[in-house]
Amino acid sequence: MHGNARHNRAPIRPQVPDVRGEKGQPLNEQTLSMRLERVAGHVPAGARLADIGSDHGYLPVALMRRGAITAAVAGEVALTPFRAAERTVHENGLEQQITVRLADGLAAIEPGDGITAISICGMGGETIRDILDSGKAHLSGQERLILQPNGGEQPLRQWLMENGYRILCEDVLRENHFDYEIIVAERAGPVTYTAEELYFGPLQMQARSPAFLAKWQRMLRQKQKTLTSFARARQAVPEEKVQDVARQARWITELLA
Ligand SMILES: C[S@@+](CC[C@H](N)C(=O)[O-])C[C@H]1O[C@@H](n2cnc3c(N)ncnc32)[C@H](O)[C@@H]1O
Repeated sequence: MHGNARHNRAPIRPQVPDVRGEKGQPLNEQTLSMRLERVAGHVPAGARLADIGSDHGYLPVALMRRGAITAAVAGEVALTPFRAAERTVHENGLEQQITVRLADGLAAIEPGDGITAISICGMGGETIRDILDSGKAHLSGQERLILQPNGGEQPLRQWLMENGYRILCEDVLRENHFDYEIIVAERAGPVTYTAEELYFGPLQMQARSPAFLAKWQRMLRQKQKTLTSFARARQAVPEEKVQDVARQARWITELLA
């Protein structure tokens, strides 16, 4: 490298993406993480997908490359991931099929898009809930929602229930030492879930998959540790908080019994 030769050039692309899968392979639009691969499996064939918070745009680009969807919108609120998504779409020659928009939440969706499925993945459940709630005007009510919250599943399910969405499918998986949940829902009129169903997931409670039970065994240990630390704390922890964690530990114990 001589002098300023590189100064005005576009940033050099890293040789490997910054994320790697469980087996160390680079993750990109060809090799999705196991988490995004499971999400991909819930996108109906031929969908017109809006992927909100798309980051690099790997999910819509992978699905389009496979011919699994018809068209997509990749929405991003932040400039750097927005540009990354634009680059992925461009490098795959998919500008005609995938529109990348810099927009907050569901504002990325325009009426003419004819969106039939919306994915919102890799964010806290409360963030996903807020995106859905503040973007209600952009929902036709016909879209399948494919949501992958990182925690905060309970408030997200609460929103779905309060807004007439039935949970059609739920999934739990573990990748890179983290438990991920996937919630698939469609608007289907009034639906009621119990407090425990909102907490654990109504379908997961029925299915009791090994991944689900392993997650809640870990969660129980975590809650018990929290209760022990509350008991040892120098300053009194508000009783309401203690009772809340104690209730969660009781529910989990009952679930696993
Ligand atoms: C951790 S990344 C997840 C990327 C991808 N969806 C995935 O699951 O791998 C979260 C992305 O959501 C974007 N995001 C957060 N809030 C958003 C919002 N209100 N509207 C659009 N994008 C948002 C962030 O900028 C970030 O790129």
